[in-house]
Amino acid sequence: MPKRPSPIPSRPPETASPPPSPPDAPDEFRSDDAPADPGIVRAGAVPAPEEALAEPAAAQVAGEGAEAVPPSAPDAAPGASAAPVPRKTPRPRKRVVAAATGQAPPLPPDPSAAPGGEGASAPPARPAEAKPPAARKRPAARAVRAIPTGGTGIGAPSGAAPNGGADPSPVPADAPAETPPASPAASRRARVAVRRPVVVAPPAAAPEADPGDPLRILFVTPECAPWVKTGGLGDVSAALPDALAARGHEVRLLLPAFPVFDRIAGRARIAELPAGGVWPAASLDAATLPSGAVLWLLDAPEFFRRDGGPYLASDGADHPDNARRFAFLSHVAARLAQDDAPTGWLPDIVHCNDWTTGLVPLYLRQMAEERGRAAPAASVLTLHNLAFQGLFPMHLADSLGVAPHWRWVNGAEYWGQLSMLKAGLLLADSVTTVSPTYAREIQGEALGFGLHDVLRTRAAEGDLHGILNGIDTAAWDPARDRLLPHPYDRDDLHGKALTKATLQWQFGLADDPEALLFGVVSRLTGQKGIDLIVGALPWLVAQGHQLVVQGQGDAWLEQALREAAAAHPSQVAVRIGFDEATAHRIEAGADCFLMPSRYEPCGLNQMYSQRYGTLPLVHATGGLADSVVDAADAAHGTGFVIPEATPEALRTGLERVAAAWAEPQRWAALQRQGMERAFGWQESARDYARLYRDIVARPQRRARPG
Ligand code: ADP
Ligand code: GLC
Repeated sequence: MPKRPSPIPSRPPETASPPPSPPDAPDEFRSDDAPADPGIVRAGAVPAPEEALAEPAAAQVAGEGAEAVPPSAPDAAPGASAAPVPRKTPRPRKRVVAAATGQAPPLPPDPSAAPGGEGASAPPARPAEAKPPAARKRPAARAVRAIPTGGTGIGAPSGAAPNGGADPSPVPADAPAETPPASPAASRRARVAVRRPVVVAPPAAAPEADPGDPLRILFVTPECAPWVKTGGLGDVSAALPDALAARGHEVRLLLPAFPVFDRIAGRARIAELPAGGVWPAASLDAATLPSGAVLWLLDAPEFFRRDGGPYLASDGADHPDNARRFAFLSHVAARLAQDDAPTGWLPDIVHCNDWTTGLVPLYLRQMAEERGRAAPAASVLTLHNLAFQGLFPMHLADSLGVAPHWRWVNGAEYWGQLSMLKAGLLLADSVTTVSPTYAREIQGEALGFGLHDVLRTRAAEGDLHGILNGIDTAAWDPARDRLLPHPYDRDDLHGKALTKATLQWQFGLADDPEALLFGVVSRLTGQKGIDLIVGALPWLVAQGHQLVVQGQGDAWLEQALREAAAAHPSQVAVRIGFDEATAHRIEAGADCFLMPSRYEPCGLNQMYSQRYGTLPLVHATGGLADSVVDAADAAHGTGFVIPEATPEALRTGLERVAAAWAEPQRWAALQRQGMERAFGWQESARDYARLYRDIVARPQRRARPG
């Protein structure tokens, strides 16, 4: 049994101006009309191109139910207990929005760009006197021909431009075709790698099919990029089902029919779900994604047809009925696994993700009890972040249809409350998390967020597995990335140097190829160690380095970054917002990507960084520890790993980065080693498939008496 949680730490006062946002909530609904601090590089909201936009971004914000607080988080009060505890009230987590800017077919219309204060933001305004890099005078001999991007990348017209016509693409649509020539120094660095023309990489070879009969997998998730994305879960939900399908399995993705899906092509009704018990009638629509994956959309207007994101309402607060919204999604998932399901397609496995689907295993058990037979499908719950637990008052249990005998300690009860995540952890046939190291870490008090005992028990039963996420290697490939102005590959980094110059221009940083440019694309929260980066800024500036940040999150971190950008505009730039295209360009244009997360279940950006020749600096935790090899290993190093998430360790790490930067040959070797790493989904999908087979073959589904 978990020990009783200690008192909830309070947050230090925030400096942000009203409207206040919850401590861990990105301030995504902050009015963009708020007066900008003079001199601060900031973004305005940009609606997506008319033809590409559907509804307001369906999914902007990820409220994750109650969030637990890690002891070392900067918002923990001095003297707060070392044990992280779930917060009393459900917290919003982070926001969504994939940007529409620069998206090209075959991606669906960018659902994430949102009008008003949400969605993609425009690039920061440039000083009036600044010239785009294309117009800079460079020695002609050093000019580098722009690599064509097929018209979909930087420089492509991006449609409606609000707020005085700001163009969301970093280079004006009418910029000359010849993009900024690399400076001599940039060229020198680029030449460290062997030069050859950049060729578009062929698609990866088709994966081998898994042996045995195909499995039928119902993958239940509230997010799927690029339609609905608040962070890595959206990426994973888009890529893992595809990877499983590529191995021969049949996958159906079950998502709420958020308004953004009104624009999906070929959507058709496949089933009516009659009202029953505490639940209303609903419908199920199907659509096929460009990848071939089949999407099932749960159309329940009273729950999912509304403004705001998947978890947060337009005012930044949780949707007040989140418990019923996500319990309904979970209940329908369990109903679709019953042999009288109206779809006629019965899954072998229901794969659940995070607290929003945590009640699926409980409902499967309950339905099996009601029908007097074993649950027909096995369940897997993947934990993407233990800090978000879906904690609700127990008095809601009636309205969620949770049977009385599942309201106790062997069910959904967690210190008197109803915990959707705990129910799932306890009752799923198998629990996975997104890296082997995180699977170990969450069994300890420090990162167990009050659920470490449950997790330890599952691990002792052989039912807790760490499977490292992959990345979408087609979307995140510097040689094929349509969002980059200049593609490049590991044999020719010239396009990277050009992208850096463009990024410096876009963000108003000094045009200096020799300046060490750090990049961050992240939720701006304590989890991500953003406060540590803020603390390192005086040193970074004094050394002549540069930093570009895109993100949104805690108001005080946004403010601190804005102030730093205002004080040092040629060295520090921040863009508060969520924009996919700029995220790609920062990944490509930065020299070093900072991720000193206090904990990180997996993390995706450190993998993107390695593929983009951008050396990551990470804290040795979770998936960061599992995916970055420290530069001390000269033959295999791909980045810089700091042993602790502390100011001192970060400073030492930054100094090591700077020392390596001063040695171009060594830097290039580290880049190449990172760019050679695969990071695809094939191995992880194979591991999931093995796990599915293992639990499907078990004679007994997991059963716990209530
Ligand atoms: P988490 O899910 O904890 O936020 P991950 O590293 O797993 O962290 O995934 C975050 C994903 O969201 C990555 O694809 C990252 O590029 C993207 N992302 C985060 N913040 C932004 C932003 N402000 N703009 C664009 N993409 C972002
Ligand atoms: C969560 C984690 C992140 C992980 C992502 C996808 O958001 O914070 O580390 O990469 O889920 O699994």
